Amino acid sequence: MASISNPFITTGYQGSEYFCDREEETLTLKRNLVNGQSTTLIAIRRIGKTGLVRHVLAQLPPDHTGIYLDILPTENLKEFLNALATAVFSTIPEQSKPGKLILDFIKSLRPVITFDPLTGFPQLTVVVRPGEAERHIQSVLKYLEAYPNKVVIAIDEFQQIMHYPEKNTDAFLRSIIQSLNNVRFIFSGSQQHLMMQLFADPSRPFYQSAGFLKIDKIEADKYAAFIHHHFQHDGYKIENEIIRAMLEWADHHTYYVQLLCNRVFATGDNNVNDVLWKEQASRLLQEQEIVFFKYRDLLTKQQWLLLKAIAQDGIVYYPTSKDFIAAYQLGSPATVLRSLQALQQKEMIYSDYNKEGQLFYSVYDVLFRRWMQGR
Ligand SMILES: Nc1ncnc2c1ncn2[C@@H]1O[C@H](COP(=O)(O)OP(=O)(O)OP(=O)(O)O)[C@@H](O)[C@H]1O
Ligand SMILES: [Mg+2]
Repeated sequence: MASISNPFITTGYQGSEYFCDREEETLTLKRNLVNGQSTTLIAIRRIGKTGLVRHVLAQLPPDHTGIYLDILPTENLKEFLNALATAVFSTIPEQSKPGKLILDFIKSLRPVITFDPLTGFPQLTVVVRPGEAERHIQSVLKYLEAYPNKVVIAIDEFQQIMHYPEKNTDAFLRSIIQSLNNVRFIFSGSQQHLMMQLFADPSRPFYQSAGFLKIDKIEADKYAAFIHHHFQHDGYKIENEIIRAMLEWADHHTYYVQLLCNRVFATGDNNVNDVLWKEQASRLLQEQEIVFFKYRDLLTKQQWLLLKAIAQDGIVYYPTSKDFIAAYQLGSPATVLRSLQALQQKEMIYSDYNKEGQLFYSVYDVLFRRWMQGR
């Protein structure tokens, strides 16, 4: 891939040169897929799921074809069909006979083709009568089953199917998927509780249908080496201590690390010292301030108090404990529990397990946390 002007990318995937580590995860995913096992990828938001999926798809063996679709914008099966048709249309080459067969089928659905104003990529919209989407989805997958290459379909934000009005979408998809041998899947999702419901609940169709892969923050040493490499490569001087401090500030959370490095790099000042990076960090907070005030307007008083308290502490193990409640005057444990649930639903905080298996709560937005702590 062509080299880009700022090596710290903050959207999408630009090739392995700009992608840090994830070697083990990449191997696991590739091994699973090549051996015919579908895999469910879960992690908290903005940690690098989509990046990893794209990294893996870009490295599949030559007899494999990877198809990527993000179904976050879809609201029903008809829109799922459109996302699938668009992804297949953009990936499968027409030159080969089997490719032409699939594309001819998609064309037979008479899709309207428009172009995404942002990316310029084609978008297909198929006009279907009620109940027809299921049949067409099934047909597209059956065509892929007959494709000479092995096919890997990565469905990002897979938990979205739980919001479709069609009942039992998971049962319907599971039954088709079960009948496929040539097509494997990566199911990736950021709403962990929904993904767990889909894949870890014995009463649901997708139970034990795929291996699990949970990804965590990138190891500090590896991230530091990556950051150092890219600054140095472009003639910047940066001490390891500074890199560690930046990683710490961004809480090793991939998106925020990338964002901070991107800004520091963009100054063009090739002597990166404490003053320089801290100035960029505080600018990031200033830019977001208006959003943070909006948070307050969107929450009840109790929710706002709890959010601030968790932001202050960084990581909270016992949010309903006497000490925590007293320190931040949060009222009763019942109130805290209610607010906790509401904040999780709004994706303002998340819960996860530490290495010892202990449950904790933390604020999603690292910038918000730093802003709160600075007040
Ligand atoms: N291994 C990596 N090395 C460098 N940058 C990365 C890496 N993984 C992801 N990124 C970058 O970090 C940002 C967040 O990653 P990504 O969008 O993949 O996260 P995500 O977990 O899919 O987030 P969401 O839950 O919001 O969908 C992106 O800008 C991406 O380019
Ligand atoms: Mg993503």
